Amino acid sequence: MKILAFETSCDDTAVAVVEDGVKVLSSVRVSQVEHEAWGGVVPELAARLHADNWRGAFEQALKEANLEMSDIDYLAVTQGPGLQTSLLTGTTAASFLSQAYDIPLIPVHHIYGHMCSVFLDRELEADSFFSALVLTVSGGHTQMHEWTDFTDLEMLGTTLDDACGEAFDKVAKMLGLGYPGGPIVSKEALKGDRMKYDLPKIYLAKHSLDFSFSGLKAAVYRLLETTEDITDPQFIADVCASFEYACGKIFARKVERALDRCPGIKTVVFVGGVSANTYITKTLTDLLSIRGIEFLTPAKLAYSTDNAAMIGAAAYRLIQKDPSCARVQFLDAQSRMKF
Ligand code: KG4
Ligand code: ZN
Repeated sequence: MKILAFETSCDDTAVAVVEDGVKVLSSVRVSQVEHEAWGGVVPELAARLHADNWRGAFEQALKEANLEMSDIDYLAVTQGPGLQTSLLTGTTAASFLSQAYDIPLIPVHHIYGHMCSVFLDRELEADSFFSALVLTVSGGHTQMHEWTDFTDLEMLGTTLDDACGEAFDKVAKMLGLGYPGGPIVSKEALKGDRMKYDLPKIYLAKHSLDFSFSGLKAAVYRLLETTEDITDPQFIADVCASFEYACGKIFARKVERALDRCPGIKTVVFVGGVSANTYITKTLTDLLSIRGIEFLTPAKLAYSTDNAAMIGAAAYRLIQKDPSCARVQFLDAQSRMKF
C-alpha cells in the first residue's frame, strides 16, 4: 500500500511516499531558513513559503519514488495541531489532490505522526514491541504515553508550561546562537563542562509524570543577567552543557517513574525533534540498558524532526485499524486538534 503524505504544521514543507507504513520510497523536505533572521518562526512568512513550496516538493516526492499519481493508494496529511496558516497549505493541497484524482485522504494528528516515525525503515514485531512507553519531545510538545497497541495510547504526562525543544530554542536565542536552537546548543555543549552550573531540574511532585521547563529556562536567563561577558565562548559552552545535562536528568527521572507506574513495558521510544539530541539519547540508552529494556529512537535523524514520512507511517496504522477514516474528502486544518 503506497501512501503519499503531506506535513506542513510549522516551518517545513514536507512530502513523502511510504509503502506499508515502513518503507520510505521518497521523503522531501523544504526547510524554511528564512525564519533564522527573526530568531523564531514567523507564521505569516511560513504560510507564504508553504504556498510557494508545496507543489515542487510534491512533484519531487513522486519523481524520487519513481511513481505516478495512479500508483498512489491513499493520501495523508497532518490536520493538526500546529500553526493554522501553515496547516492550511497541507490540508488544502491534499484535499485538492484527493478530489482531483479520486484518492481517499487520511487525516493524521501530528503527535501520532511523530510516534509512528519509529516504524520507518524497521520491521517491528508487535508482540515484542508493546507495551511501549513513548516520549514525544519537540518544539511544541513534551509528552509521555503508554502505548499498548498500534493505535491505543494513554497519556501519562505532559508539560505544564514550555516544551523542551522550545526551551532549547530560547536558551539559544538568549545566548545569541541562532535558530533552531537544539542542534546549535548541543554542538556548543560538546565543548562545555556539564557540572559547571547547577541548573534546576524540575521533577514536580513525587510521582508526577508531568514536565516543567520554564524554571530551567528562567534560571539560564538569571545566570546571563549576572554574568559580565556572556559572549565568552567557554561560558556559552558551559551554559549549553549544563542545560543539556539538566534536560537529560529530567527525562531519565521521568522515564524511571513511568516504568515504575507501568509494569510490563518492553520498549521505550523517544521521538520528536529533541530525540535528535545525542546527549539526551545517550543518557536514556545508558539508563535503559541497565534495566534491560529495549530503547528506540527513529532510524534516521531526519525522521526525528518534522517530516512527511512519519505522517505516511501513521496513516497506514490508522487505516489498518479503521478503513472508514480514509475518504475522498475536503479536510479543514485544526490548529488545536485533540489527540
Ligand atoms: O519535531 P520538530 O521538528 O517540530 C515540532 O513539532 O516542534 O521539533 C523541533 C524542535 C526544535 O525546538 C529544535 O530546537 C529541537 O526540536 N531540536 C533539538 C535538536 N534538533 C532539533 N533539540 C535538541 N537537540 C537537537 N539536536
Ligand atoms: Zn513535530
